[in-house]
Amino acid sequence: MKILALNASPRKDKGTTDILLNHFLEATDAEITKHYITDLDIKGCMGCFNCWTKTPGKCIHTDDMQMIIQQYAESDILILATPIYNGTITHYLQKLMERFLPTALPYQVKHGDQTRHPRRIQIKPPKTVLIATAGFPDHQAFNIAKQLYPNSLHITLPAAQNLTTPSLRKHLQPFLDAVTEAAKQLTTTGTVDPQLAPQLQYQYSEEMRQAIRDGANTYFDSQIKE
Ligand SMILES: Cc1cc2nc3c(=O)[nH]c(=O)nc-3n(C[C@H](O)[C@H](O)[C@H](O)COP(=O)(O)O)c2cc1C
Repeated sequence: MKILALNASPRKDKGTTDILLNHFLEATDAEITKHYITDLDIKGCMGCFNCWTKTPGKCIHTDDMQMIIQQYAESDILILATPIYNGTITHYLQKLMERFLPTALPYQVKHGDQTRHPRRIQIKPPKTVLIATAGFPDHQAFNIAKQLYPNSLHITLPAAQNLTTPSLRKHLQPFLDAVTEAAKQLTTTGTVDPQLAPQLQYQYSEEMRQAIRDGANTYFDSQIKE
Protein backbone atom coordinates (compact mmCIF):
# COMPACT_ATOMS: atom_id res chain seq x y z
CA MET A 1 0.00 0.00 0.00
CA LYS A 2 1.58 3.26 -1.15
CA ILE A 3 0.47 6.73 -0.09
CA LEU A 4 1.42 9.95 -1.82
CA ALA A 5 0.73 12.84 0.59
CA LEU A 6 0.91 16.45 -0.56
CA ASN A 7 0.78 19.22 2.04
CA ALA A 8 -0.24 22.55 0.49
CA SER A 9 0.38 24.72 3.57
CA PRO A 10 3.26 27.18 3.28
CA ARG A 11 3.68 26.76 7.06
CA LYS A 12 4.78 23.19 6.34
CA ASP A 13 5.69 21.34 9.57
CA LYS A 14 4.84 24.40 11.69
CA GLY A 15 1.19 24.29 10.62
CA THR A 16 -1.97 22.60 11.79
CA THR A 17 -2.57 20.91 8.43
CA ASP A 18 0.61 18.93 9.00
CA ILE A 19 -0.51 17.89 12.48
CA LEU A 20 -3.72 16.47 11.04
CA LEU A 21 -1.99 14.90 8.04
CA ASN A 22 0.62 13.23 10.27
CA HIS A 23 -2.12 11.98 12.57
CA PHE A 24 -3.66 10.15 9.58
CA LEU A 25 -0.31 8.87 8.28
CA GLU A 26 0.84 7.59 11.69
CA ALA A 27 -2.20 5.30 11.86
CA THR A 28 -1.10 3.37 8.77
CA ASP A 29 1.59 0.83 7.90
CA ALA A 30 1.71 2.17 4.36
CA GLU A 31 4.79 3.16 2.40
CA ILE A 32 4.54 6.95 2.54
CA THR A 33 5.92 9.60 0.21
CA LYS A 34 5.17 13.05 1.58
CA HIS A 35 5.93 16.42 0.06
CA TYR A 36 5.46 19.99 1.19
CA ILE A 37 4.33 21.54 -2.08
CA THR A 38 6.17 24.80 -1.35
CA ASP A 39 9.46 22.82 -1.30
CA LEU A 40 8.84 21.60 -4.85
CA ASP A 41 9.70 23.28 -8.11
CA ILE A 42 6.25 23.36 -9.73
CA LYS A 43 5.82 25.91 -12.49
CA GLY A 44 2.41 27.21 -13.50
CA CYS A 45 0.52 25.67 -16.44
CA MET A 46 0.83 28.00 -19.44
CA GLY A 47 -2.34 26.69 -21.12
CA CYS A 48 -0.36 26.06 -24.34
CA PHE A 49 -1.82 22.54 -24.81
CA ASN A 50 1.54 21.32 -26.13
CA CYS A 51 1.05 18.32 -23.80
CA TRP A 52 -2.03 17.44 -25.87
CA THR A 53 -0.80 18.22 -29.39
CA LYS A 54 2.87 18.95 -30.19
CA THR A 55 4.38 16.68 -27.53
CA PRO A 56 1.54 14.39 -26.37
CA GLY A 57 1.87 13.56 -22.67
CA LYS A 58 4.85 15.86 -22.18
CA CYS A 59 4.70 19.30 -20.56
CA ILE A 60 6.83 22.20 -21.80
CA HIS A 61 8.12 22.62 -18.24
CA THR A 62 10.81 20.38 -16.80
CA ASP A 63 10.45 20.49 -13.02
CA ASP A 64 9.31 18.34 -10.08
CA MET A 65 5.91 17.66 -11.66
CA GLN A 66 7.28 14.72 -13.67
CA MET A 67 8.31 13.09 -10.35
CA ILE A 68 4.89 13.82 -8.81
CA ILE A 69 3.03 12.29 -11.76
CA GLN A 70 5.24 9.19 -11.54
CA GLN A 71 4.60 8.89 -7.79
CA TYR A 72 0.87 9.48 -8.36
CA ALA A 73 0.76 6.67 -10.92
CA GLU A 74 2.38 4.29 -8.43
CA SER A 75 0.26 5.25 -5.41
CA ASP A 76 -2.83 3.55 -3.99
CA ILE A 77 -3.90 6.59 -1.98
CA LEU A 78 -3.42 10.26 -2.77
CA ILE A 79 -3.79 12.66 0.15
CA LEU A 80 -4.36 16.32 -0.61
CA ALA A 81 -3.84 18.27 2.62
CA THR A 82 -4.59 21.97 2.52
CA PRO A 83 -5.54 24.91 4.68
CA ILE A 84 -8.55 26.90 3.48
CA TYR A 85 -7.42 30.21 2.01
CA ASN A 86 -10.11 32.69 0.92
CA GLY A 87 -12.74 29.99 1.04
CA THR A 88 -10.90 27.38 -1.03
CA ILE A 89 -7.72 25.29 -1.38
CA THR A 90 -4.41 27.17 -1.43
CA HIS A 91 -3.01 28.26 -4.77
CA TYR A 92 -0.03 25.96 -4.21
CA LEU A 93 -2.33 22.95 -4.51
CA GLN A 94 -4.33 24.46 -7.36
CA LYS A 95 -1.13 25.10 -9.34
CA LEU A 96 0.02 21.52 -8.85
CA MET A 97 -3.36 20.02 -9.79
CA GLU A 98 -3.48 22.03 -13.04
CA ARG A 99 -0.19 20.41 -14.04
CA PHE A 100 -1.88 16.99 -14.29
CA LEU A 101 -3.14 18.03 -17.76
CA PRO A 102 -0.56 15.84 -19.61
CA THR A 103 -2.09 12.77 -17.91
CA ALA A 104 -5.40 13.41 -19.72
CA LEU A 105 -6.28 13.00 -23.39
CA PRO A 106 -7.77 16.02 -25.18
CA TYR A 107 -10.96 14.20 -26.15
CA GLN A 108 -14.25 14.96 -24.45
CA VAL A 109 -16.42 12.04 -23.37
CA LYS A 110 -19.78 11.89 -21.66
CA HIS A 111 -19.58 10.81 -18.01
CA GLY A 112 -23.00 10.63 -16.36
CA ASP A 113 -24.59 13.97 -17.13
CA GLN A 114 -21.22 15.70 -17.46
CA THR A 115 -18.14 15.72 -19.69
CA ARG A 116 -14.65 14.40 -18.96
CA HIS A 117 -11.30 13.86 -20.58
CA PRO A 118 -10.21 10.20 -20.77
CA ARG A 119 -6.95 9.31 -19.01
CA ARG A 120 -3.81 9.09 -21.09
CA ILE A 121 -2.01 6.93 -18.56
CA GLN A 122 -3.66 3.57 -17.99
CA ILE A 123 -3.51 3.29 -14.22
CA LYS A 124 -5.87 2.38 -11.45
CA PRO A 125 -6.39 5.88 -10.06
CA PRO A 126 -5.50 6.21 -6.37
CA LYS A 127 -8.24 6.75 -3.82
CA THR A 128 -8.19 10.39 -2.84
CA VAL A 129 -8.38 11.86 0.66
CA LEU A 130 -8.93 15.57 1.20
CA ILE A 131 -7.60 16.80 4.54
CA ALA A 132 -8.48 20.44 5.12
CA THR A 133 -8.06 22.86 8.01
CA ALA A 134 -9.63 26.28 8.52
CA GLY A 135 -9.32 29.18 10.94
CA PHE A 136 -13.02 29.93 11.22
CA PRO A 137 -15.01 27.63 13.52
CA ASP A 138 -17.64 26.96 10.82
CA HIS A 139 -17.94 23.65 8.96
CA GLN A 140 -19.14 25.65 5.93
CA ALA A 141 -15.52 26.82 5.51
CA PHE A 142 -14.92 23.65 3.47
CA ASN A 143 -17.86 23.86 1.04
CA ILE A 144 -15.81 24.80 -2.02
CA ALA A 145 -12.89 22.45 -1.28
CA LYS A 146 -15.29 19.53 -0.87
CA GLN A 147 -16.99 20.40 -4.16
CA LEU A 148 -13.60 20.39 -5.89
CA TYR A 149 -12.99 16.79 -4.80
CA PRO A 150 -16.49 15.29 -4.52
CA ASN A 151 -15.28 11.69 -4.76
CA SER A 152 -12.67 12.00 -2.02
CA LEU A 153 -12.88 11.04 1.59
CA HIS A 154 -13.31 14.38 3.38
CA ILE A 155 -11.48 15.03 6.64
CA THR A 156 -12.14 18.61 7.72
CA LEU A 157 -11.31 20.51 10.87
CA PRO A 158 -12.57 24.07 11.49
CA ALA A 159 -10.65 26.25 13.99
CA ALA A 160 -7.74 23.87 13.53
CA GLN A 161 -5.60 26.11 15.76
CA ASN A 162 -7.29 24.23 18.61
CA LEU A 163 -4.97 21.31 17.82
CA THR A 164 -2.08 23.27 19.32
CA THR A 165 -3.72 24.06 22.68
CA PRO A 166 -3.92 20.94 24.91
CA SER A 167 -7.04 22.10 26.80
CA LEU A 168 -8.90 22.62 23.48
CA ARG A 169 -7.37 19.67 21.64
CA LYS A 170 -8.90 17.27 24.18
CA HIS A 171 -12.37 18.17 22.83
CA LEU A 172 -11.17 16.99 19.42
CA GLN A 173 -10.18 13.50 20.63
CA PRO A 174 -13.30 11.74 19.23
CA PHE A 175 -12.59 13.36 15.84
CA LEU A 176 -8.91 12.38 15.98
CA ASP A 177 -9.88 8.82 16.92
CA ALA A 178 -12.23 8.73 13.91
CA VAL A 179 -9.35 9.92 11.67
CA THR A 180 -7.16 7.11 13.04
CA GLU A 181 -9.90 4.57 12.39
CA ALA A 182 -10.51 5.89 8.85
CA ALA A 183 -6.79 5.70 8.05
CA LYS A 184 -6.63 2.10 9.28
CA GLN A 185 -9.75 1.06 7.36
CA LEU A 186 -8.71 2.76 4.13
CA THR A 187 -5.23 1.28 4.13
CA THR A 188 -6.30 -2.23 5.08
CA THR A 189 -9.66 -2.72 3.31
CA GLY A 190 -9.51 0.04 0.66
CA THR A 191 -12.73 1.63 1.91
CA VAL A 192 -14.05 3.51 4.91
CA ASP A 193 -17.30 2.63 6.67
CA PRO A 194 -19.82 5.29 5.49
CA GLN A 195 -21.04 5.61 9.08
CA LEU A 196 -17.62 6.97 10.02
CA ALA A 197 -17.76 9.75 7.38
CA PRO A 198 -19.77 12.33 9.40
CA GLN A 199 -17.32 12.01 12.30
CA LEU A 200 -14.49 13.02 9.98
CA GLN A 201 -16.01 16.46 9.38
CA TYR A 202 -15.82 18.15 12.75
CA GLN A 203 -18.61 20.48 13.81
CA TYR A 204 -18.51 22.72 16.89
CA SER A 205 -21.62 23.67 18.82
CA GLU A 206 -22.82 27.26 18.38
CA GLU A 207 -21.69 27.98 21.93
CA MET A 208 -18.21 26.68 21.12
CA ARG A 209 -18.08 28.67 17.88
CA GLN A 210 -18.73 31.89 19.78
CA ALA A 211 -16.09 30.96 22.37
CA ILE A 212 -13.60 30.33 19.53
CA ARG A 213 -14.41 33.70 17.90
CA ASP A 214 -14.01 35.47 21.27
CA GLY A 215 -10.74 33.66 21.96
CA ALA A 216 -9.35 34.50 18.50
CA ASN A 217 -10.29 38.18 18.89
CA THR A 218 -8.66 38.42 22.31
CA TYR A 219 -5.54 36.69 20.99
CA PHE A 220 -5.16 39.03 18.03
CA ASP A 221 -5.80 42.10 20.20
CA SER A 222 -2.82 40.98 22.28
CA GLN A 223 -0.64 40.48 19.19
CA ILE A 224 -1.37 43.67 17.25
CA LYS A 225 1.41 46.23 17.61
CA GLU A 226 0.25 49.77 18.41
C1 LIG B 1 -4.29 34.08 3.27
C2 LIG B 1 -5.15 33.30 4.23
C3 LIG B 1 -6.49 33.14 3.95
C4 LIG B 1 -7.32 32.41 4.83
N1 LIG B 1 -8.64 32.26 4.51
C5 LIG B 1 -9.44 31.54 5.35
C6 LIG B 1 -10.81 31.36 5.04
O1 LIG B 1 -11.31 31.80 4.01
N2 LIG B 1 -11.57 30.66 5.91
C7 LIG B 1 -11.07 30.11 7.06
O2 LIG B 1 -11.80 29.48 7.81
N3 LIG B 1 -9.74 30.26 7.38
C8 LIG B 1 -8.92 30.95 6.55
N4 LIG B 1 -7.59 31.10 6.84
C9 LIG B 1 -7.04 30.43 8.06
C10 LIG B 1 -6.37 29.09 7.73
O3 LIG B 1 -7.23 28.25 6.95
C11 LIG B 1 -6.04 28.34 9.01
O4 LIG B 1 -5.24 29.14 9.82
C12 LIG B 1 -5.36 27.01 8.73
O5 LIG B 1 -5.47 26.18 9.86
C13 LIG B 1 -3.88 27.18 8.43
O6 LIG B 1 -3.28 25.90 8.24
P1 LIG B 1 -1.71 25.73 8.54
O7 LIG B 1 -1.54 26.01 10.00
O8 LIG B 1 -1.40 24.33 8.18
O9 LIG B 1 -0.98 26.68 7.65
C14 LIG B 1 -6.76 31.83 6.00
C15 LIG B 1 -5.39 31.99 6.27
C16 LIG B 1 -4.59 32.73 5.41
C17 LIG B 1 -3.11 32.89 5.72
